[in-house]
Amino acid sequence: MTDINLQLEQKRAAARLGGGQRRIDAQHGKGKLTARERIEVLLDPDTFEEWDMFVEHRCTDFGMDAQKIPGDGVVTGYGMINGRLVFVFSQDFTVFGGALSESHAEKICKIMDQAMKVGAPVIGLNDSGGARIQEGVASLGGYAEVFQRNAMASGVIPQISVIMGPSAGGAVYSPAMTDFIFMVKDSSYMFVTGPEVVKTVTHEEVSAEELGGALTHTTKSGVADRAFENDVEALLMMRRMYNYLPLNNKEKAPFRESLDPSDRLEHSLDTLVPSNPNQPYDMHELILKIVDDGDFFELQPEYAKNMLIGFARMGGQSVGIVANQPMVLAGCLDIKSSIKAARFVRFCDAFNIPVITLVDVPGFMPGTSQEFGGIIKHGAKLLYAYAECTTPKVTLITRKAYGGAYDVMASKHLRGDVNFAWPNAEIAVMGAKGAVEIIFREDKNDPEKLAAKEQEYRARFANPFVAGARGFIDDVIQPQETRKRICRSLVMLKDKKVDNPWRKHGNIPL
Ligand code: HXC
Repeated sequence: MTDINLQLEQKRAAARLGGGQRRIDAQHGKGKLTARERIEVLLDPDTFEEWDMFVEHRCTDFGMDAQKIPGDGVVTGYGMINGRLVFVFSQDFTVFGGALSESHAEKICKIMDQAMKVGAPVIGLNDSGGARIQEGVASLGGYAEVFQRNAMASGVIPQISVIMGPSAGGAVYSPAMTDFIFMVKDSSYMFVTGPEVVKTVTHEEVSAEELGGALTHTTKSGVADRAFENDVEALLMMRRMYNYLPLNNKEKAPFRESLDPSDRLEHSLDTLVPSNPNQPYDMHELILKIVDDGDFFELQPEYAKNMLIGFARMGGQSVGIVANQPMVLAGCLDIKSSIKAARFVRFCDAFNIPVITLVDVPGFMPGTSQEFGGIIKHGAKLLYAYAECTTPKVTLITRKAYGGAYDVMASKHLRGDVNFAWPNAEIAVMGAKGAVEIIFREDKNDPEKLAAKEQEYRARFANPFVAGARGFIDDVIQPQETRKRICRSLVMLKDKKVDNPWRKHGNIPL
């Protein structure tokens, strides 16, 4: 090897060592992988093309000119996940705690710019103490450069954040602007201000884990989409999720042949819905029985559990599933579930992923906490999201579809392409009991008469045929043939094209 080649290899070796063996050991000691090990797990073997390995910071304050580490705390480049292109940055906690300097930010921006040029997603592996304190405003500027790119890339290429260590202060806002946030249990946390500041300002005593750990963000705040046990599980799950996504907004959602026949009948579905309309059943069961190979990648499974969202395939076609869950709050729409589903529908719409909506909804959740919390505005988010959505929309009403919630859940009126109902579906303004108590208020002291009226109302409206007679439901189908009918609809909708009117952007009720 010539001298110059030897020098190159030495420089590379130094860069690969990051903040040194002692800090690598400390990282491992916390149960965390290093930035480079994470990339190795995330990408297909031997596909990583690293950029900017020799970039250094330009800070001279606080003795920083004597502490330069090649790569400056973030490993960036591109590679493949199951043969499909992806850009990646992975913050290196062993180098100044992964803190973001001006140069570090420039490296991230460079791959984001390139990802936009070629139309490929960006996955960020975050493990950082935030702004590089020694750099001050140069670091803040670096963050803002990343934020600006997050906003421009939104809806153009998928952006995924995996939080694998600290993410504090303004640093949380880049992940927050990406499409999905995943966290690692016990080793990651996100907060705008840490426990010390919280104590000073609000006098609350709270641990970092309680304030911004994975459990908090997947159950209480809804900031994160899912939490995983460790780094390896998180990265392998990212590989799995990646398969559902197109590379950019001009591509169709991916198609992957499955051995699961698309005309498979599922007889057990004929008895899924209990005859008592007040008895719940698990909507997961329906999802698992109709999607390819029973494979459902659920998002936010522990947050707003009255609504289920996630990715699956039907007849090989990648789809987004949105479903009311009768097991929780009877599946009603409330603030959290509306926001949860609205954001997911918008993601699917932006990236050409068909939306399958499974409806069993008794209406919006009543109460002061909902009204004071702004259910009007938040419920409208879901309405707006479905109304503007132009990807294929297939809807199935399994049981209840009452009131405004009927309209919201991808009804025919919101340009549902194919709207099915099961034979026992009840599509009405409200449940029979409530309706009769309002219409026949004067008979409130005559329970027999009320019961007869309730029976009459139920017979007249608690079925899918009134909606069917108006063409609001395209067909009433046997539960067992649900998969077959949805898969056929998706084939029919493969080349669907609908354009919304030109505008700079809409004004979704934020
Ligand atoms: C420079 C930093 C750093 C930072 C950590 N380090 N954070 N260097 N800037 N922000 C360095 C430490 O000095 C240390 O160096 C090494 O990284 C590891 O840090 P430790 O403290 O030893 O690790 P740990 O005990 O695991 O604690 C991690 C930590 C803590 C919780 C992240 O380091 C911490 O609180 N850091 C400061 C966080 C912070 O206030 N950041 C600014 C937020 S404001 P050595 O040489 O000893 O290994 C912000 C604004 C962004 O980010 C605004 C954008 C709009």
